[in-house]
This record gives sequence, C-alpha cells and structure tokens, in this order.
Amino acid sequence: MTDYIYSIEAKNVNKIFNRKNNKVNALENFNINIKKGSIHGLLGPNGAGKSTFINILGGLVKKNTGTISICGINIDKNQKLAKFKIGIVPQELNIDPFFTPCELLELQAGLYGISKQNRKTEEILNNVGLLEQKNSYARTLSGGMRRRLLVAKALVHDPEMLILDEPTAGVDVELRSALWNYIIDINNKGTTVCLTTHYLEEAEKLCENITIIDKGQVIKDDTKLNLLNIISTKTVSFDLETIKELPNELFQFNPKIEKNKLTLSYDKSKISLNKIINILNSNNINFLEMNTYESNLENVFTKLISSNGNN
Ligand SMILES: Nc1ncnc2c1ncn2[C@@H]1O[C@H](COP(=O)(O)OP(=O)(O)O)[C@@H](O)[C@H]1O
Ligand SMILES: [Mg+2]
Repeated sequence: MTDYIYSIEAKNVNKIFNRKNNKVNALENFNINIKKGSIHGLLGPNGAGKSTFINILGGLVKKNTGTISICGINIDKNQKLAKFKIGIVPQELNIDPFFTPCELLELQAGLYGISKQNRKTEEILNNVGLLEQKNSYARTLSGGMRRRLLVAKALVHDPEMLILDEPTAGVDVELRSALWNYIIDINNKGTTVCLTTHYLEEAEKLCENITIIDKGQVIKDDTKLNLLNIISTKTVSFDLETIKELPNELFQFNPKIEKNKLTLSYDKSKISLNKIINILNSNNINFLEMNTYESNLENVFTKLISSNGNN
C-alpha cells in the first residue's frame, strides 16, 4: 500500500471549458491538499468550480494542466488505481429509475470486480437506511433516499476516501443529520471525507479544514478555527434595567439601543469584555442579563467572497 500524507494533492490545476462564444476558466492555478483522515470542506458560491474539480478527480472531466495525486497515486500515471481509492457521490441524482438499490449496488460491485462473497450490499444499504427499500425501483424513492443510495453506491468498493458533492441538497432535516452521523462514523473508521456544501452551518459543524474557492481560484485555505478567527469583531448585548444617556466612552463600540437592549461591537483581539463592563459599572448602568456573539462561518464566507469582487 502506498504511504501518503494527503489523500488529495493538487498542484496548479487549470481547466478551461470552451463554450460556443467564450471560454470559461473553471479552475485557475488551483491548489489543494486534503489531509488523510480529515473531513475537508470545499466551499464556494455557485459556479466556483467545485464540481469541476470533483469531476476531474473522478475522471469525468479532463484537466488542461496541473498534477493531481489521489491517495499517493498520480492520476495521469495510473487513473484506474486512483479511481479505486475514492468513492464519489455526484451532485446530480443520476440513477437509472428501473434499478432497485440492491441491483444497483450489485452492479457497481461487479464493475469493481468484487467477488460475490465479499460484497456487503445489505450491510451498506442498512447503514444508509435503505434496507427496507432494497427491492423497490429507484424511481419510487424520494430525493433524500436517492441521495443516500448514491452514498451507498460510492462505498461499495470500500474506498480510502469519500467525496460528496452537495450531499444534503434535497435531503430533509431529520435524514440530513442521520446522513451526517453516518459520514462522521465512516470518517472515524479512517476514511478521509471531502464535501462541498451550501450549508455553511454544516461545514462549520463537521469540517476540520476548509478551502474556500471562487471563480476557479482558492481564496482561503485554513483550519476551521483560524477561519472563524478572521473576523475578530464580537458583539455583546445587555438587557438594561433602565435606559440612560450613554457615556461618551461607549461610542467607540457603535452602540445600538432597542427597547431595553444595548448592543455593542468590539474587537476581541484589542479589547476585553471586562473593560466594557467596567465602563457600564462606573457609569451606574445596571443590566439584568448579558449575551455575547461570535462570528460564524457564514460571516467569514460572506466577507471573503465579497472582498473577492462579488456582491
Ligand atoms: N461541461 C461544462 N461545459 C461548459 N462549462 C461548464 C461545464 N461544467 C461547468 N462549467 C462552467 O464552469 C464553471 C464552474 O462550474 P462548477 O464546477 O459546476 O461550479 P460549482 O460546482 O462550484 O457550482 C461555471 O462557470 C460553469 O458554468
Ligand atoms: Mg457544483
């Protein structure tokens, strides 16, 4: 077995789509390293190039230039072996409507040359919650069930890495969290996971490393914790006993008063909350309750994407 640190290592990848009248730079000098064993988020607005990259990994789209290794295997040198290392759950629900989940997984296992006694069709269907539907035609399955069937299909050959392109699109909230728990479980057993998602809250919950891309280029690549620290503005709100005129010292914190609530913003890297509380105390401004708010990944994402020339 090849030893490797990164499940995906991509350097200077370029992909240009030639349309009738124009060229689209879907990926431009694109670089990414995805650590073995991690859950990595690939985030970006629509048209950023996420699916293009995933399709290149799966051999569905040919890159123009650049080098890519999957689990230590250069895809230009041994595409077949590289393909064995990953399971991809595509963005589109492309399932033949007249196959049953059972038939679909058996067919896929056959394609990967897995002998009948080594197949885990029922076990995998059970894990994604589709055992009951194993003999139903795919066309009778809901969107969420089809998505889970695609996850099952991607796992048939026991890949070292699972890649999910917008896996929770169209999956209802309850099943979504079941799907995530299953994915966390797979990751805990050693499978590297990469996912693209529009649900930033989900990426924030799951991913240890995040790459944000826009217009085919990486605009930020960091640990989730570092990304969350990009915005150092914190907000604090106080439920005041009575409303009084605010002292001048508070104006630097952009104060807002609504009903009995005073809201202040401050830079947590420069000012401690204690200092603000002391100002309130020394001005006899009493409060009943206090709440603080950190920025979330959504704020960071919006800030990065808008400073990259978008609205
Ligand atoms: N097969 C294709 N032919 C032409 N253009 C394409 C094709 N696939 C993707 N594109 C273009 O490449 C860009 C990136 O698309 P895509 O990778 O699907 O983005 P994302 O998955 O981040 O939404 C978009 O401008 C898209 O229109
Ligand atoms: Mg996409």
